[in-house]
Amino acid sequence: MRVQVPDRRQIRVRHLVPAFVVAGMAVVGLVTSAASGDSPRSAAGPPAGAISTPTTPVPAASLARPSASLARPSVRSPITYRTPTAIGQGGALYQTNCSSCHGPAAGGSSVAPSLQGVGAATIDFWVSTGRMPLANAATQATRKVPRFDRQQTLAIVAYVTSQGPNYGPGIPSVDTKSASLPEGESMFVLNCAACHTITGSGDALGNGAYAPNLHEATATQVAEAIRTGPGNMPRFGPGQLSDKQVADVVAYVTGPIKHPDNIGGLGLGGIGPVAEGFVALLFGVGVMMLMAFWLGERA
Ligand code: HEC
Ligand code: HEC
Repeated sequence: MRVQVPDRRQIRVRHLVPAFVVAGMAVVGLVTSAASGDSPRSAAGPPAGAISTPTTPVPAASLARPSASLARPSVRSPITYRTPTAIGQGGALYQTNCSSCHGPAAGGSSVAPSLQGVGAATIDFWVSTGRMPLANAATQATRKVPRFDRQQTLAIVAYVTSQGPNYGPGIPSVDTKSASLPEGESMFVLNCAACHTITGSGDALGNGAYAPNLHEATATQVAEAIRTGPGNMPRFGPGQLSDKQVADVVAYVTGPIKHPDNIGGLGLGGIGPVAEGFVALLFGVGVMMLMAFWLGERA
């Protein structure tokens, strides 16, 4: 009868050892997966808190859209596209492809907004990303293979902007040569990641709207989106992001966001640090548990 007591203790110890090992490993897994959420780039740059931020992050819920008439040209276009020839060619393209919805003089209709005064950047963005011409006015316009080449697009811009005064910004020319990637990253995290996600792969916004992925936009299109605020995206004027800061964000989006280098492991399709940490946790802890049970069996 006395012999049974040490036996029972032995059994308890046998079960406690793997339990402690699993708990310890889980803690280690949690700590490492949380740490892997920080990209090596952000470690190299200045801490986010140390950067003065003139902008407040825009909550995904605020989908209010400032009227285009408040916009003022911020970056002047060096491109001279508004020649009489271009306006003539653009007018012909406009009448065939756009006037059925936007009206013959771009004044708008019951199905599409007026394009008068929106400015060159807005028109260039919607046409060059293939969003326009639209096929189905009921759904959010999506990025498509553009129907027009660069010269035709600028001709359409020339025609539409010739229909009245323009309050919206001109087509921006972005110089990213002296741009700062760490600055661009922190500006992106503060102002863009809430909607487009930290990896720029896009996300749903509710009410059927979504923020698209940023892997295809050109430098000009990124700057145009920032300055004009297409669809449900807010507009960032020069008071919120200076031209230098826009250039930093553009450099970050067209650089590391478009071409992630995935330092430290698999990209896992760029689904984001939380998801990657979760995968690490799942597989890591699974392997640890198997090891712990194996040790327990041997004990
Ligand atoms: C089938 C109808 C349709 C056709 C054709 C069409 N559009 Fe549109 N367009 C729309 C609708 C609807 C919107 C509003 C979409 C939205 O806000 O998501 C819009 C939005 C726009 C905007 C954004 C306006 C703003 O203030 O944000 C521009 C610029 C534009 N269209 C230009 C064009 C041009 C240029 C063409 C011809 C190449 C064209 N569209 C052809 C229906 C159309
Ligand atoms: C409130 C959410 C929101 C925020 C914040 C936001 N965006 Fe957007 N963004 C959108 C939505 C929605 C669209 C799609 C508009 C449409 O097509 O109707 C968009 C479109 C874009 C596009 C066009 C992508 C393409 O390939 O056609 C770019 C580029 C872009 N955003 C960049 C940015 C940058 C850079 C920032 C930060 C400075 C930012 N966005 C902040 C919601 C947001």
